[in-house]
Amino acid sequence: MKALIVYGSPHGKMSATYRPGSNFAKGLKDEGWAIDELIINDVEIKHCLGCCACWLKTPGVCVQKDGMEDVIQRHQNIDLLVLAAPLYFYSVPGKVKDYWDRNMPLYLSESRKFAGQTDKSWTDSFKFLLISTRDFQ
Ligand SMILES: Cc1cc2nc3c(=O)[nH]c(=O)nc-3n(C[C@H](O)[C@H](O)[C@H](O)COP(=O)(O)O)c2cc1C
Repeated sequence: MKALIVYGSPHGKMSATYRPGSNFAKGLKDEGWAIDELIINDVEIKHCLGCCACWLKTPGVCVQKDGMEDVIQRHQNIDLLVLAAPLYFYSVPGKVKDYWDRNMPLYLSESRKFAGQTDKSWTDSFKFLLISTRDFQ
């Protein structure tokens, strides 16, 4: 079984969310899982352009060239995706939002669903776990 652990705090390994996330990863490793860990803060991620070329013109491939090409590859064939990210005003840090928007090529099957060509979503192929911390309300 394979898990990708994504750390979303701007503080990387010094963050509050890194501790529970990395402990969870260690527990999985002890159980024999293959673990890949990704610190969002270390990756160059441009904003999504909203052009939808990754669905319509170059299916599954973003027109922008940056760290997301590697990130997209690392989301292939996973059984579990863990996002460890702090709460920022009812949401996530901006770079996590950029990361999530730029995952759009992985949602290519959604465009095929609209066209009636499949009933499968990318998210059907793995479980998702969110680990979050907060300080105030
Ligand atoms: C811009 C910003 C927005 C935040 N918004 C909230 C919030 O709405 N509610 C809350 O309880 N904590 C909020 N916090 C506090 C963080 O969620 C908290 O400090 C968290 O533990 C930081 O985790 P990290 O060390 O992994 O980055 C906010 C912090 C920042 C910097």
